[in-house]
Amino acid sequence: MITYGVVGATGLVGETMIKVLQDRSFPSVSFHPFASNRSEGKIVRYRNTDYPVEIIRPEAISKGMILFGATSANITKKWIPMCIEAGALVVDNSSAYRMDPDVLLVVPEVNGHLITGEENIISNPNCSTIQLVVALAPLQQLGRIKWVSVSTYQAVSGAGTPALEELQKQQAGTLPANTADRIHENIITSIDPPDTGGYCSEEVKLMNETCKIMGMYFPVFASAARVPVRTGHTEAVVVKFDNPVRSNEAVSILEESRGVAVSESGSSPLDVEDTDIVVVDRIRNNPGDPSVLQFWVLADNLRKGAALNAVQIAEEYLRRKNTDS
Ligand SMILES: NC(=O)c1ccc[n+]([C@@H]2O[C@H](COP(=O)([O-])OP(=O)(O)OC[C@H]3O[C@@H](n4cnc5c(N)ncnc54)[C@H](OP(=O)(O)O)[C@@H]3O)[C@@H](O)[C@H]2O)c1
Repeated sequence: MITYGVVGATGLVGETMIKVLQDRSFPSVSFHPFASNRSEGKIVRYRNTDYPVEIIRPEAISKGMILFGATSANITKKWIPMCIEAGALVVDNSSAYRMDPDVLLVVPEVNGHLITGEENIISNPNCSTIQLVVALAPLQQLGRIKWVSVSTYQAVSGAGTPALEELQKQQAGTLPANTADRIHENIITSIDPPDTGGYCSEEVKLMNETCKIMGMYFPVFASAARVPVRTGHTEAVVVKFDNPVRSNEAVSILEESRGVAVSESGSSPLDVEDTDIVVVDRIRNNPGDPSVLQFWVLADNLRKGAALNAVQIAEEYLRRKNTDS
């Protein structure tokens, strides 16, 4: 039995976190929803009890507490130190510590075995990275991966509450926007401003985080676009192996893999909304290169891409901690 909190409980990831914690009967003795002073005192309902939203402060954090972080990286860096100081575990959804060499970046199906139960921060990867590695990791049984190309079609909820509200207003015609800012009936081919090398941060996250989670280096050629879909990220993936591979063997491997459902008929983000599965769709051999596989990967960015993965990390952490004690 543990005390836990969600920091950013009023946001899209925080709200989904609370749903997932309820769905999975996470053990608890008490629960604390935290957010900014804009939300202080608002009521969050959890397991038939109303909890007022609090501002996170040292007195609210205790040793052994588990906190799920669902705030932006800048905000996260402000409240995490007090949690470490108190001896709590933070499973953080932001990018603040993902590439820190001293912090684990975990997708339980891929590298959950690295968790020891001694951590004070464990990072949850970016939503588009999580679904990619859930599909990629089992395919290493076919051969060594030489490179991966991934083009994303990312849902608007991936950018949080303000972006979703903007889409809704644009759909209703109450928020005129110039072409570059307009997402309704549009596609934006740089999710945020490109860096000096021309890459947007979503692409950089895919390139760096994929290799960190899989514990090996291979080039990842990433192109990330925002599409006017509410929830559910879609990715077109091309994988080059060291040796010839067969799509029917890939299907058999992925059918046996944890958290994956294989489809052969074409899937859409609506198929994965509010589900816990990563769909790998239309796995096919490239006719021009027998060592290349192509497929689509889809998942709910708020569930497996954020909240569910974080709760699975905490479950793994508790398993390790209880085994060792
Ligand atoms: N959306 C996704 O699909 C997704 C997927 C993976 C990872 N992530 C990451 O998860 C994090 C949350 O994303 P989101 O989409 O849920 O964003 P969001 O909907 O904009 O929610 C942000 C949350 O942060 C809270 N907050 C803001 N300032 C705060 C402060 N000073 N102290 C405490 N809480 C504060 C907000 O509270 P108020 O309501 O009081 O303002 C709100 O609860 C981000 O780091 C994001 O990159 C998101």
